[in-house]
Amino acid sequence: MKKKKIVILGTGGTIAGTAASASDHTGYTAAQVGIDQLVAAVPAFAGTACELVTEQVAQVDSKDMSFAVWARLAARMKHFLAQADVQGLVITHGTDTLEETAWFLQALLNPDKPVVLTCAMRPATALAPDGPQNMLDAVAVASHPGARGVLAVCAGVIHSARDVQKVHTYRLDAFSSGDAGPVGYVEEGRLRLLRNWPEALSVHALSAIKNIASDDAGKNWPRVEIVMNYAGAGAAVVQALVAGGVQGLVVAGTGNGTLHHALEAALLQAQAAGVRVVRATRCLEGRVLPKAGDAIPDSQGLSPVKARVDMLLQLIG
Ligand code: SIN
Repeated sequence: MKKKKIVILGTGGTIAGTAASASDHTGYTAAQVGIDQLVAAVPAFAGTACELVTEQVAQVDSKDMSFAVWARLAARMKHFLAQADVQGLVITHGTDTLEETAWFLQALLNPDKPVVLTCAMRPATALAPDGPQNMLDAVAVASHPGARGVLAVCAGVIHSARDVQKVHTYRLDAFSSGDAGPVGYVEEGRLRLLRNWPEALSVHALSAIKNIASDDAGKNWPRVEIVMNYAGAGAAVVQALVAGGVQGLVVAGTGNGTLHHALEAALLQAQAAGVRVVRATRCLEGRVLPKAGDAIPDSQGLSPVKARVDMLLQLIG
């Protein structure tokens, strides 16, 4: 029987990190170990019914994620997904911006095949690293019949790109899908699904993908920034950004997207000057519920960082 082909793309992160001591879980350097070596460190892959193909797309600490890496990753993803014998993709990624990359790829490419981002909270040199099990679980999801869309797998939990969010600074189970709940679990290599595979359609995807070249250094991407509401928030940051040529602003409002009157006035002024403005919430759960007559549109349930990705794609498309 022909084995299913799963492509594993490496981008760096703690999963590829090294520390001087096996007991050091925080003082390590991310993005050191190549994807071939990471795969070779999982003996259980030898027994899977999959043919694994690897490619190093980048080697970055994901706090330094760039538009250039996103463009390259999207191009390689598109390339491999177009191959009929490729069943699915796994992408190893740092945890810090994993949710942004996941949403970028989902909103841009809306893949019919599974694309599973995975990661680790402990470096590869740890006494008990979590990366190998996460990679094994990610391959189980990527090879599951019917799986589709961009997903994230960490600590045995399957999240959709839309809902996944890093919520803990050091625990192995660092991600949550908030009140949407996870897509399912990987239990001893088997999937227990709790809801349907994600089907997020994006209206800007088709034109945006045409406008993003694989060798795009990101220099011409629009400038979209995030501002936040808090006690004493004012107009100064927004005014400085507008003066600096910002094209889009996502505001992380308090509660149901509420804004200090001074910040709101500055945002409305920016909007009137042609800057695109969207209102999200800094709350970890729930979504901004719009009211009739709202002058600033809501983020349709997207977190501030994902609403920014959406706005980038709209402006690129
Ligand atoms: C990173 O995001 O690349 C470093 C942190 C991590 O992967 O947990």
